[in-house]
Amino acid sequence: MRRVLAAIVAAIGLASAAAPAWAAGETPKPPAQRWSFDGLFGTFDRGSLQRGFQVYKEVCAACHALNQIYYRHLTQIGFTEDQVKQIAAEYEVTDGPNDQGEMFTRPARPSDRARRPFANEPAARAANNGAYPVDLSLVVKARFNGPDYLYALMTGYTDPPANVTLPDGMNYNTYFPGQQIAMAPPLQPDGVTYADGTRATVGQMARDVTMFLSWTSEPEMETRKRMGVKVILFLLVLTGMLYAVKRKVWAAVH
Ligand code: HEC
Repeated sequence: MRRVLAAIVAAIGLASAAAPAWAAGETPKPPAQRWSFDGLFGTFDRGSLQRGFQVYKEVCAACHALNQIYYRHLTQIGFTEDQVKQIAAEYEVTDGPNDQGEMFTRPARPSDRARRPFANEPAARAANNGAYPVDLSLVVKARFNGPDYLYALMTGYTDPPANVTLPDGMNYNTYFPGQQIAMAPPLQPDGVTYADGTRATVGQMARDVTMFLSWTSEPEMETRKRMGVKVILFLLVLTGMLYAVKRKVWAAVH
């Protein structure tokens, strides 16, 4: 038994010695942020969601699609139906065929999918130096530590260290795996003008767009958490009642 234990301890020791603590060029862990949607009672911050939508619409939508989102979904983040109609109507979509068998364009309606910036992947790559701007609707779920990673990515652009030469069209970002990213820093101070007067610093826009893309990744999060709390409360009450019944049933025996 002792020998087995010793072997296990040695194996663990070897394994940890073999892993380099901090290899050069390794991607650091994104710093942990506090989010209003953390935890059992977490909710999305409505103001931040709407500002984040504005950042997506005015900045990211030039390159990134949001395939899971239809305009009508925006009522869930606090826009009225009329506002959603107005937002949708800013875009043109192709519809048809009409009676003559031809396709035509019309203003988008709330029932339309959020407009994609490119017709297809080759077109998107051709416009982006060969790199592909991913669909953003699920990206927060698709990355480890999604919200913290997205925030770190948005704020993580720096000059490359002296020993690194970047290929043309590449940018240095501390938190992108490999540090070389084809996306130029998308957020510039005051890149958008917020309707509610919030100052549009890079950090603020990064927070807001992360809030918004966390919502697109899991619009049902608030319902899910509320349901979880209800189920736990129900189970607590049920446990209490079962215990009372058990005491009553067994009372005569004791
Ligand atoms: C001018 C085009 C352009 C704009 C504007 C832009 N991006 Fe990108 N984005 C790209 C390209 C190209 C890539 C692929 C980068 C690569 O693979 O090196 C990318 C990649 C990404 C990724 C994926 C990173 C990963 O881990 O794979 C995220 C997330 C992202 N962008 C978020 C955003 C957000 C949020 C905005 C708006 C604030 C935005 N982008 C604006 C072009 C753009």
